[in-house]
Amino acid sequence: MKAVGFYRSLPIEHEESLIDLEIEKPTPTGRDLLVQVKAVSVNPTDVKARVARKQAEETPQILGRDVAGIVAEVGSECSLFRPGDEVYYAGSNVRPGGNSEFHLVDERIVGHKPESLDFARAAALPLTSLTSMEGLFERLGISRNPAVNQGKTILIIGAAGGVGSIATQLADLVGLTVIGTASRPETIQWAREHGATHTISHTQAFVPQLKVLGFPTVDYIFCLSDPERHWDSIVEAIVPQGKICSILPLNPSAKLDTLFYKSATLSWELMYTRPMFQTPDMIEQHNLLEDLTQLVDAGKVKTTLTELLEPINAANLRKAHAKIESGQTIGKIVLANF
Ligand SMILES: NC(=O)c1ccc[n+]([C@@H]2O[C@H](COP(=O)([O-])OP(=O)(O)OC[C@H]3O[C@@H](n4cnc5c(N)ncnc54)[C@H](OP(=O)(O)O)[C@@H]3O)[C@@H](O)[C@H]2O)c1
Repeated sequence: MKAVGFYRSLPIEHEESLIDLEIEKPTPTGRDLLVQVKAVSVNPTDVKARVARKQAEETPQILGRDVAGIVAEVGSECSLFRPGDEVYYAGSNVRPGGNSEFHLVDERIVGHKPESLDFARAAALPLTSLTSMEGLFERLGISRNPAVNQGKTILIIGAAGGVGSIATQLADLVGLTVIGTASRPETIQWAREHGATHTISHTQAFVPQLKVLGFPTVDYIFCLSDPERHWDSIVEAIVPQGKICSILPLNPSAKLDTLFYKSATLSWELMYTRPMFQTPDMIEQHNLLEDLTQLVDAGKVKTTLTELLEPINAANLRKAHAKIESGQTIGKIVLANF
């Protein structure tokens, strides 16, 4: 089958940084589905994984974490899906990625694709939505009931990126006042169109800007970019007893004492944790994607696709990686059709 992969880390301008390959088609066992891949979206994690692979490998590495496609075959223990089902999922970081014609994935982290979206528009959603849903509703413990959230505020740092474009929509949907950070006119506009009531810039200290808006502190902070650079602003902006969630690691030297005096909670969100450790509740990712499908088909959450490249091949994947490396993408870049 066709695939796109690489043997060692090379600058993205290099023709061999990502190459077209022929590899063996896998066979599903146990709870695995074999999915015919129709579209993939590209994430910063793909770039990080490509850049990290300094040693040349004997077998090619296949990246790609966001897939929309059709179930081709099911393993003997599968009970959630049948051949022919249209699905979408983010997958696992400890298994081969989805940049291949067929792909194996554990059915417990797969959802039925929204009927209202084509494969490309669906592929934009799973990874960023799982991160947002786990971050907002599980780590920050935000209620899904808008009545409970009346008068509460959330600051979303990096509001126009892949994760931010979904997190702002969901936070708005559950009744929070959403303040998003964005640094350019086009990202400010995108964040406002996707649920941010207010925007401030992440190139300046947050609290003076928040005070101008009438919010000297916020109840929740969801940090989707550069937590170390924003740390002083984060601890200053969080309300006493407030909650912070970061989707990126934080240098251990970060000062935590101010959070102690504020009795503030700091939590982490990594959407790979469940598949990586095969946690007993890993099926929650299936449930979250099924919830998302209902929200999308009800018109409450919209796709975040901003750029579509066809077909899925090395040249187009190199273009997508180069854009992600710029750190300035809005929404999601998707590749469709082999
Ligand atoms: N833990 C997890 O499970 C998880 C899941 C997904 C992603 N991640 C990680 O989270 C990060 C964000 O992912 P993503 O897909 O949203 O990225 P992305 O789409 O590449 O984010 C691009 C956005 O980041 C904003 N940005 C750039 N520099 C910033 C800064 N210093 N502070 C705040 N915002 C900044 C830009 O806004 P402007 O153009 O307005 O500056 C741009 O709109 C990545 O590092 C990714 O690897 C973690």
